[in-house]
This record gives sequence, structure tokens and C-alpha cells, in this order.
Amino acid sequence: MIDEVARNRLLDEVTVRLAESPVTILLGARQTGKTTLARMAARQRDLVRFFDLEVAADRMALAATPEKILSEATGLVVLDEVQRVPSLFEVLRPLADRPDVPARFLLLGSASPDLVRGTSETLAGRALVLHIPGFTLEEVGLQRQNDLWLRGAFPRSFLAADEAASLRWRESFIDSFLERDIPKLGIRTPAETLRRFWNMLCHFHGQIWNASELARSLAANEKTARHYLDILAGAYMVRVLPAWHENIGKRQVKSSKVYLRDSGLLHAMLDIRTRAQLESHPRYGASWEGFALEQTLARFGDRHAWFWATQRGAELDLMVLHEGRRIGFEFKCSDAPGMTRSLGIALTDLKLDRVFVVYPGTTGYPLSDRVEVIPLSEIPTLKP
Ligand SMILES: Nc1ncnc2c1ncn2[C@@H]1O[C@H](COP(=O)(O)OP(=O)(O)OP(=O)(O)O)[C@@H](O)[C@H]1O
Ligand SMILES: [Mg+2]
Repeated sequence: MIDEVARNRLLDEVTVRLAESPVTILLGARQTGKTTLARMAARQRDLVRFFDLEVAADRMALAATPEKILSEATGLVVLDEVQRVPSLFEVLRPLADRPDVPARFLLLGSASPDLVRGTSETLAGRALVLHIPGFTLEEVGLQRQNDLWLRGAFPRSFLAADEAASLRWRESFIDSFLERDIPKLGIRTPAETLRRFWNMLCHFHGQIWNASELARSLAANEKTARHYLDILAGAYMVRVLPAWHENIGKRQVKSSKVYLRDSGLLHAMLDIRTRAQLESHPRYGASWEGFALEQTLARFGDRHAWFWATQRGAELDLMVLHEGRRIGFEFKCSDAPGMTRSLGIALTDLKLDRVFVVYPGTTGYPLSDRVEVIPLSEIPTLKP
């Protein structure tokens, strides 16, 4: 039995939400540790009921009189795999509206509301949502940065006994995601089609979404390619980072950028098995960019996050609005990144307050008064 990795910051986030709202929803890709986190939260409380809706008996227990059972519940009620019984959202709505709700409902799911028909809006304004990513650098410890990058952030992949076991876990995760999880969501796209799309997307990792090019390689139309993207994004496999644009008298890119969220899955699909293979792979820099991006978003949130690019080639990997300030990030996989023309343009055009060039090295250094090179290890505690 592997020891549990503490996730104190996430656990605090869960606790805060449970105190503030009758319904809290934890959403994230499969296998990121949602159930484990709910159990950690449950350990801090008494009177906990746990319904795992993947389990037939638990589904049956709620099937006949869900209103009665849930309205009489007190304490913490966990509804795991809630996407399996979307009708529960309707049941919960009036319960959450009672003046003094005697229970706290913690819902867990691995598909975004858009992907589960009929759920979006149902609990609007009544539930607080928290996204649960895989492990972060802060959780696994800075000295394990390269392992986290190579193996990715899924707990089982990261904690596997060796590289081969980690890779086997990821490959089987991909198979069961495509063959079991996707059909369970009522999506009828064949596993092989989606696998082909996903594979292709790996080669576009960190690039601007180009529906026509992907559609052409798939011999499908653009609408279909977009639909596949929505499926993978809705299941938290793919990150779609929107473009920032503003009135600066320049033509700017409006399409989003796409990334595989998990570097470990990216490597599995590109058949990158070792550190040496990663370093010599053409997607090395893009892999770093995606990995560093996810760690940065884990620190700053993804609600106010964009990339930026002009038609003439200036760009910024990430801009976040943080406490009213514009913070820029560049993710550079090189030994000693320096100032670039593109960065200078972004700084001026976007009126950035600070820019951090995030690299895999160990020492930080300034490039100008507002621009600083920092190691990724500083991201978890960065106060810009
Ligand atoms: N903090 C942790 N420390 C160690 N192992 C963990 C941790 N969190 C999760 N795991 C392991 O990762 C695997 C997946 O965890 P868990 O079942 O909690 O994820 P989940 O998000 O609920 O997955 P699913 O979406 O498939 O229900 C389990 O084997 C679990 O033991
Ligand atoms: Mg679970």
C-alpha cells in the first residue's frame, strides 16, 4: 500500500466551500484523486454518508425515494460519480434552497457539466465548483519535478514502482477512458476514432487550434473535429486556453490554443518512455510548456487565463489577471533564457505588470525591471 500524498491546500479549498455552500462539486479528469480527497474531507467530520453511484447497490439505494433520503440527511453526504445519475441534480435543487440546510452535499464527477446532458444550469448559483487536478509540484515535492513531468500528475502513474509500470498504467488508463468512460457518458463516437483524434492532437500540443487541418487529417469536417475536441476537453483530458485580444490596432489571433493537460499522457501517446527520449524529442519544448502551464494554472487558477499572439508573430504563453494586475508567463525549456523581441512587444502592448520566464533551471535572475527568469520550483509559492 502506497502512502497517501497530502493535499492540504486542496483539502482546505474543499473545507472552505463546504462551509459556505450546501452543495460543493469536485470536478476533474478520471483518477485524479477526487474520491480520495472526499474521504480525506470526510475524516474531518462525523455523520458521513457515502453514495458511490458507480456501484449498483448505491444507485438502487437512492433510486426509489431520492428526495426522501436526501432531504432527511444530515451531516456530510458524498455523491460520488454523480454524472452517472444526472437526475440527482434536479432533486438537489430544492433541497439546497431550504433556509437551513441540515446537510452538506459533496458531489464528485469526472465530466464537465456541458458534457452531462441536462445538468448545466440546474445547480447554478447553488453550488460551488472546485477543479481537482492531478498532483502538483507542491504536493509531490520540488525534488521530484522531473518525475512529475515525465510520468504526469495522475497519482497512480506518478507513484508507480518504476517507469515501465507508470507507462503501463497510463496506457491502460487511455484504453479504459476511451472504451468504458466515454460510452458511459452517452457519447457514441467510436473509441478508435477518438483515439486517432487524440493522437493527432498530441502533435498539435501547445499550438493554435486549427480545425480545418485536423479535420483534413481525420477525413472529417470541422464541426466533427470541434465535437471531438469538446469531448476531450469536457472530460478534462485537453485544455483549451482562450486567446486574449484587445484594441491595440494590431491583428491578433482569436482561436484558442490546445494542450493535453497531462504531460504523462502526452508522453505515453508520443511513445516517450525515458528522460533521454523526452530530451531528444521534437516536442520537448512543447511538453515543457504544457507541464509548466498546468503547474502555473494550479497556482493561479484558470478563470482569468489566456495566451496572446499577434498575426505578425509576437506572443505570450500565458497571461493571468491576479489581484487586478496583469502577469505574463513564458515557458522556456532552455538553459539560460534571455529577453526576446516578442516578449518586449507583449510587455508594451498588454501593459503587463510583471513577466516571469519559467524554465527548468535552478537559479532565477532578472532580465529587466519587470521581467524575471525563475525556476518552475518557485511557481507554487510565487507572489507576483
Ligand atoms: N493523495 C493521494 N495519495 C496517494 N494516492 C492517491 C492519492 N489520491 C489518489 N490516489 C490514488 O489514485 C487512484 C485514483 O484515486 P481516486 O479514486 O481518489 O480518484 P478519482 O478521481 O475519484 O477517480 P475516478 O474518477 O476514477 O473515480 C487511487 O488508486 C488512489 O489510491
Ligand atoms: Mg472516484
